Amino acid sequence: MTATESPRLTVIGTGYLGATHAICMAILGFDVLGVDVDERKIQRLASGEVPFFEPGLPELLTKALESGRLRFTTSFEEAGEFGDVHFICVGTPQKPGSDACDLTYVDAATRALAPYLDRKVLVVGKSTVPVGTAARLTEVVHELAPAGTEVELCWNPEFLREGFAVEDTMNPDRLVFGVESEWAHERLSAAFRPILDQGTPVVRTDLATAELVKVAANSFLATKISYINAMAEVCEAVGADVKDLAESLALDDRIGGKFLKPGLGFGGGCLPKDIRAFAHRAEEIGVGQAVSFLREVDAINRRRRARTVDLVRELLGGQISGARIACWGATFKPNSDDIRDAPALDVARTMHGLGGHVKVFDPAGMDNARRAYPELRYGDSALDVAAEADVVVLLTEWSEFREIEPDALATVVKHKRVVDGRHALDAARWRSAGWEYRALGRSFD
Ligand code: UDX
Repeated sequence: MTATESPRLTVIGTGYLGATHAICMAILGFDVLGVDVDERKIQRLASGEVPFFEPGLPELLTKALESGRLRFTTSFEEAGEFGDVHFICVGTPQKPGSDACDLTYVDAATRALAPYLDRKVLVVGKSTVPVGTAARLTEVVHELAPAGTEVELCWNPEFLREGFAVEDTMNPDRLVFGVESEWAHERLSAAFRPILDQGTPVVRTDLATAELVKVAANSFLATKISYINAMAEVCEAVGADVKDLAESLALDDRIGGKFLKPGLGFGGGCLPKDIRAFAHRAEEIGVGQAVSFLREVDAINRRRRARTVDLVRELLGGQISGARIACWGATFKPNSDDIRDAPALDVARTMHGLGGHVKVFDPAGMDNARRAYPELRYGDSALDVAAEADVVVLLTEWSEFREIEPDALATVVKHKRVVDGRHALDAARWRSAGWEYRALGRSFD
C-alpha cells in the first residue's frame, strides 16, 4: 500500500484509552483489530460490553461491531499480519514504591508485537511515557522485527478526559505527530484522515517533543488547580473568599476559568502520577530543578485532603470519632467510575480511620469502591447515607448531589451541617435553609 491509502489499524491495549480509540476509529470507517493479553476483557468487548463507565461508548461499540469493521483478539501474530499502523495504548502506572513511571506494559507490548512485523509498517505510541522512551523503543523494534529498520516508530500523545473520551477522540483540540520521516507523517495522517479533514490543527515535531507535550500539558493543568487551592489556603488565613477570587481571575482572558476550580483537588489515573513521573524523569536527566515546583504542586494537592478532614472535624465541634458522616462521592470526578487516587475515598478512609461512622454513596463508583475498600460502609442513595447524619460531606460533584433540595435533606439528617468539598453547592441557598455550610477557602460569619 502507499503511505496515503487508508491503513488497517491495530490498537494494542484495550483499557480506557485503547478501547475508546479502537471503537472511535472503527466508527470513523477504519478496519480495526483490538488486541489485549487479557482474555476476559477481549471477550467482553467482542460481545459488546464496555468494561468501564464512559458515557456514549457502549452505543458506539455496538455500532462498530455491527459494521463488521471492529474485531478483537489476543493474538499478536494476527495483529502483525493484519495491521499497517499499530497503536500502542497500554497503561503506564506509577511504579510501586517510587515516583517513576512503570514501563513494563509498554515494553511487553512492543516486544510481543515486533517479532511479527515482517513488512514496512508504522508503530505509534500513544501511552504517556517518560521522555526518551520512544527512542529506546525504536531500537527494540528494529532489533526484533523481521523487517528490521524498515519498521518506523512515532509518537502521538492522547489527551482524552474521562467522561468526555468519545468527544475528545472524535473532535480533539489538536493532534501531535512526533515523526522521524515524511513516510511516517503521511502514514499517520492517513490513519487520522477523517479527523484532519475536520480542520483539526496538527503539530508535527520530533519524538522527544511529542512525548513531552503530554506530561507538560498535564503538569500545567495540575499546577493551575494547585495554584487556586494554594490561594484558598491564603484566603482561609485572612477570612477572604477563594470563590470570588477565582471568579475574578477567570474573567481575565489571559488566565481563563478552566481548571481554576478550588476544592478537594485532583486525583485519577493521570494527573497525580504524571507530575510525579515527570519530576522523577527530570531528575534522572539532570534538569530536576526546572520542574521541582511539581513537588510543591503535589504537596498542595495532598494537603487539600487533610484540610477537608479538618473542616469536617471543626464543624463537628472537634471530634470525628463516633460521628455519623455521610460521604457523597467516591470517584475522582463525576461521570466516571474511576476511583484511582480519588480524593473522595482518601477523605472517607481517613475519617473512618479516625473513628467516624462513615457511609459512602456514589452514582457510578460503588462496585470499584467496595472492591478496593471493603472496610467502608456503603449506602443505596444520597439520602440513604444521610439518614441521621451529623454531617454531610460532598466529595465528588455529581449533578445528582448538586440538585438535592436542602429542605428535603433536612428531613433525614440529624444535624444540618454540610461540608462542600467541591464548591458545588449554592452556599447562600443552603445557609438560608438553615444549614451550617463550610467550604475550603471560604469563611462565613
Ligand atoms: C486528565 C487530562 O485532562 C487529560 O487531558 C489527560 O489525557 C488525562 O488526564 P482526567 O484524568 O480524565 O484527564 O481528568 P480531568 O478532567 O483533567 O480532572 C482531573 C482532576 O482534577 C479531577 O479529580 C478533578 O476533580 C480535578 N479538578 C479539575 C479540580 O480539582 N479543579 C478543576 O478546576 C478541574
